[in-house]
Amino acid sequence: MTIGLTTEISPAGAADLVLAARALGQGRLVAFPTETVYGLGADATNADAIARLYQAKGRPAFNPLISHVADLAAAAKIGRFDAPALALAKAFWPGPLTLVLPKTSGCAVAELATAGLDTIAIRIPSHGVARTILAAFGKPVVAPSANISGHVSPTTAQHVESDLAGRIDLIVDGGPVDVGVESTIVGCFGEPMLLRPGGLPREEIERVLGRALLRPPAEMESDSAQPLAPGMLSSHYAPHTRVRLNATDVGPNEALLAFGPPLKEAERAAAVMNLSRIGDLNEAATNLFGYLRALDARMAQTIAVMPIPNHGLGEAINDRLRRAAVERE
Ligand code: TXA
Ligand code: MG
Repeated sequence: MTIGLTTEISPAGAADLVLAARALGQGRLVAFPTETVYGLGADATNADAIARLYQAKGRPAFNPLISHVADLAAAAKIGRFDAPALALAKAFWPGPLTLVLPKTSGCAVAELATAGLDTIAIRIPSHGVARTILAAFGKPVVAPSANISGHVSPTTAQHVESDLAGRIDLIVDGGPVDVGVESTIVGCFGEPMLLRPGGLPREEIERVLGRALLRPPAEMESDSAQPLAPGMLSSHYAPHTRVRLNATDVGPNEALLAFGPPLKEAERAAAVMNLSRIGDLNEAATNLFGYLRALDARMAQTIAVMPIPNHGLGEAINDRLRRAAVERE
């Protein structure tokens, strides 16, 4: 692909989804909604298409991709399920959970998508548009979040357009997403391990497993080495404006990302958006990336973020905010 092609934006009618599946078969890059965030899809068995996908996102090729499939039978062709993995798949698929499993020997997914690892990340999304495209295509689809690498993930087709227009072939507009943060990633290649908090709360996963999830060892979270742990490049999900966490006050040059009852000084902030006035973490997750983008556009000196409780979806929200707050050059 040459950067500078025309990106078509289509509605999500039945005929449009058939065309989207056909475009994937032709090696094209197609963005579509999932329940978590918009994904940028490519045929997982087509190394050329995957190479173009990495290029379009500006993503380092050592960071592997999630293979999306329509059902458990398709998942079992590419990943080996142990008992905990099967229990999680049965409890939570389709839905905002990704499992990292040992690859099967006959796995048809291109090496480039798994960055040379002997494990593979797999997910069955629940969004109707994603499911229809996957069923019509009939093969695994790799789909990272449809944003420029390191930028805030897209929760609307317009976000995708503003990051990737001219770099991808098609955007299927299925309206705003529901969950708003990426899938939770659990490694099942040994004791189940939480690789990325996300749209499925840790508590629900631990309830099904009957035990606590392990944390990945510190070296898996490093920036330099191959990040075995996903989404772990520390400056990730980043707006351009500096982000200040756990704000209990706000200055006149700052934009405020509030949660719950706003601060007293909120009127003097340069801009205010409230993730959830009633303190609902699910609502806050849905709003998070869109509000970060909107406040970023205000060109304030800082985005001050009020404290967010760390349970339920709060763990994923705080993870993304910490990454957004990492100092960049
Ligand atoms: O909700 C989601 O998961 C979205 C939607 C589109 O499905 N996708 C998404 O993909 O967030 P992406 O590429 O932005 O994040 C996937 C993460 C990456 O950080 C990558 O490091 C990790 O999954 N990953 C992929 N394969 C892996 C593997 N074999 N072992 C460990 N981590 C892996
Ligand atoms: Mg991403």
